[in-house]
Amino acid sequence: MGVIEKFGTMEYGPAPEDAKESLVWLDAQKRRFGHFIGGEWHAPAEGKYFETADPSTGEKLADIAQGSTADVDAAVKAARSALPGWQKLSGHARAKYLYALARQVQKHSRRLAVLETLDNGKPIRESRDIDIPLVARHFYHHAGWAQLREQEFPGYEACGVVGQIIPWNFPLLMLAWKIAPALATGNTVVLKPAEYTPLTALAFAELCNEVGLPAGVVNIVTGDGATGEALVKHGDVDKIAFTGSTEVGRAIRRATAQSHKKLSLELGGKSPFIVFEDADLDSAVEGLVDGIWLNQGQVCCAGSRLLVQESVAEKLTKKLRKRMSTLRVGAPLDKAIDIGAIIARVQLERIDGLVKQGIAEGATCWQPEIVLPTRGLFYKPTLLSNVHPTSIVAQQEIFGPVLAAMTFRTPREAVELANNTVYGLAASVWSESVNVALQAAAQIKAGVIWVNSTNLFDAACGFGGYRESGFGREGGREGLLEYLQPAWLKKAPAMTGAAAAGNGAPDVAIPSSGIDRTVKLYIGGKQARPDSGYSIPVHGLRGELLGEAPLGNRKDIRNAVEAARKAESWGKTTAHNRAQVLFYIAENLSQRSDEIQKRLAAAVGEKQAAEEVWLSIERLFSYAAWADKFDGAVHNPPFRNISIATNEPIGTVGVVCPAGEPLLGFFSLVLPLISAGNTVVAIPSEKYPLIAGDLYQVFETSDLPGGVVNLVTGRTSELLKVLAEHDDVDALWCYGDEATCASAKALSAGNLKQVWTNEGRAIDLFSVEQGEGRLYLQHAYQVKNIWVPYGE
Ligand code: NAI
Repeated sequence: MGVIEKFGTMEYGPAPEDAKESLVWLDAQKRRFGHFIGGEWHAPAEGKYFETADPSTGEKLADIAQGSTADVDAAVKAARSALPGWQKLSGHARAKYLYALARQVQKHSRRLAVLETLDNGKPIRESRDIDIPLVARHFYHHAGWAQLREQEFPGYEACGVVGQIIPWNFPLLMLAWKIAPALATGNTVVLKPAEYTPLTALAFAELCNEVGLPAGVVNIVTGDGATGEALVKHGDVDKIAFTGSTEVGRAIRRATAQSHKKLSLELGGKSPFIVFEDADLDSAVEGLVDGIWLNQGQVCCAGSRLLVQESVAEKLTKKLRKRMSTLRVGAPLDKAIDIGAIIARVQLERIDGLVKQGIAEGATCWQPEIVLPTRGLFYKPTLLSNVHPTSIVAQQEIFGPVLAAMTFRTPREAVELANNTVYGLAASVWSESVNVALQAAAQIKAGVIWVNSTNLFDAACGFGGYRESGFGREGGREGLLEYLQPAWLKKAPAMTGAAAAGNGAPDVAIPSSGIDRTVKLYIGGKQARPDSGYSIPVHGLRGELLGEAPLGNRKDIRNAVEAARKAESWGKTTAHNRAQVLFYIAENLSQRSDEIQKRLAAAVGEKQAAEEVWLSIERLFSYAAWADKFDGAVHNPPFRNISIATNEPIGTVGVVCPAGEPLLGFFSLVLPLISAGNTVVAIPSEKYPLIAGDLYQVFETSDLPGGVVNLVTGRTSELLKVLAEHDDVDALWCYGDEATCASAKALSAGNLKQVWTNEGRAIDLFSVEQGEGRLYLQHAYQVKNIWVPYGE
């Protein structure tokens, strides 16, 4: 083509990045990698290797060790033996290592970026300008946290040995998100990269040695899902951090239920990209390019559902199609490429299959007339419009360059559509009106909301999901807490005997006799008879009959959950208002304290009863105080944005109350939750369920709106199962013995509700340190980060 013709078409010529440095590095390793364990390279115990390839050409890049149970075990042992030495270092010493890693990543950024693109197929522009700079930023930021850890988190200690499993879409970035906070807080690590993209993790292992990181602090074991599973199930791992599919997240929830492993899950998403009629449509189109075509759409927080206001739908679609026609799909190492290769054939087929299903369900499919490379795994940028909200392409994560578009009429409808998903990872909201944008941001159930922007990430800002997008955050202060625990927790003794399950509700249920001390259930602000019509006798310390408590069942729990859901406007009342109600409950409890104490004494003795009553009043004051003081934060990421981290209530929370402290136990768990604006379905002490009667009498005179607290008495194990399996319960707090806590976790895997337990340990609820405060509030809220741009 002559110069004049070239000028006429304005076509770019190819501008490939030079891969030589990375290929030389691969050759220097003889294109064969073992595991990185205890600072050294080890051949796999079973001698098995698998291939990793360049998805844009299909060419093999290297042989990678397939990790077996024995390899995982060796890595965990190395991490365990490195732990004391690593923890003995000062925060400053650990900070220096993290700083050195950040510097080393920067120094090798070009090689790492090329390696990432070769192994993953993402455009070099992205690995060079997004992935690797963010990796360095993460290590810098966490070098800072290592320095400040003792000052900022007094009373906390590291979890110990952490197992980390990451996906293939942002291989080195996900490694940084996992390793940096773990090391900064004093943990040691065994990390398993994804089988499609192990190379940058192995290159990182080399950097660890280059900076002289003590052997065993970071270990990398490569392999597939089976290797991941071996790590998850290893008995000497204290915490698992996972990013990947919701399905595997669920399996990990189940697999760790019987252990004390702390767990954080960053899972799938189906994030809405909402364009209001007053949005700057040209900017919104650029946002969409980033939102759904970044990394070929293989992004957990991709803006994969376009919700556009009907009045501008046609105009936006026209602009979008025009822009899509200019997207360049091709060799990822070409610096002028927008869309690279899909990670693997199975993913390509999955994308295509879902698109076909979407079309069969009525969607209109549009793709630009661009030519795809003849070899390698590529997929055209795709727009599906007229998508029905229930269609598979509106509900399931496609994880490819496919946008599913729907329209809405009113902002309210936009929010309803946005929340019509089991996920809740992110959302992008476009409007020139700050009121419209922030109103939507407040109502969307997702961990990250980008206003007039999309796919922004920073180490200082927490990232993570609501609902089936997982739990826990990465980045920011809240991300560090995932790798820390109160120092007293591991020292607390295991619950035994009567303390564990109270006296245990007797097996015999009796028809309600109507004797004086028959209490009722409390649902939706009303006393209610149990569906079963049966009661259980409640006995005192000397075996005397104290009264009867209703035997609640599945139906009662369902009614209570429904009532709690209906009462969720409690979370939208002002914090001041919630504080007033808590103060008022304290006043009313105080007025009735003598009679309540007397009745309670029959079950727990006079001394404990007295303590429970006055400490409960104190605790009510504490949480009334906290209601308007547990504020969020404003972060200043290195962009022209602020990120507003708000603490939001989780929603409807099930609570299994401690048996041994019927009054104080109830308040210790329920107060932080309602102070935060959650609604609660509580199962009161199995040992002394009659406390329910005293509680609802106090509530009834205290302006607590009906449905905010619901009480269902009965057999804990039966009721816990219903609560845990209920899809409309967002979180579960369970205080009980080892077996009860394990079943709370296992049974909650269905909708991946957050579960917080006492891990079967006897916590001293009578102490302020263990029984109240920030620890509880951190679990009662979830952090939502709202990114707001400024400047012209
Ligand atoms: P995946 O969830 O199977 O893989 C993620 C990581 O988990 C990999 O390191 C894998 O080896 C490991 N793994 C697999 N099974 C495991 C098990 N039983 N125990 C422990 N670790 C295990 O994701 P996959 O198959 O690569 O992709 C399938 C779909 O998952 C994608 O189409 C996408 O929808 C979703 N996905 C979501 C990601 C996200 O960031 N939210 C990332 C990757 C995939």
